[in-house]
Amino acid sequence: MSVVKITFVERSGAEKVVEDAEIGDNMMQVATANGIDGILGECGGGCACGTCHIYIDPEWHSVVGTADDVEDMTLDMVSETRKPTSRLCCQITVSDNMDGLRVIVAPEAL
Ligand code: FES
Repeated sequence: MSVVKITFVERSGAEKVVEDAEIGDNMMQVATANGIDGILGECGGGCACGTCHIYIDPEWHSVVGTADDVEDMTLDMVSETRKPTSRLCCQITVSDNMDGLRVIVAPEAL
């Protein structure tokens, strides 16, 4: 398997399914390449902007893993609500055990 299926739940609640996320690709780049609303990736994946904030579906949290210290500091600065399942998708590499993964784009802070 060289591709996996990832479902992104956009801020509107719409679900967009990416059927062909390449293993080894950066998840932020997968999202932006597929026009996922709410994922901007303004720093280009440098873990500095927080505009790629997602919540991992709790069922998938152990597969995707937790943020490292640098990502954790950037997550502390995001304007959206931070959750235990928060991740910056630019820090996630698509892997073969992510087939069927579901992630939620963090809603804009009010
Ligand atoms: S793209 Fe900037 S932190 Fe992820």
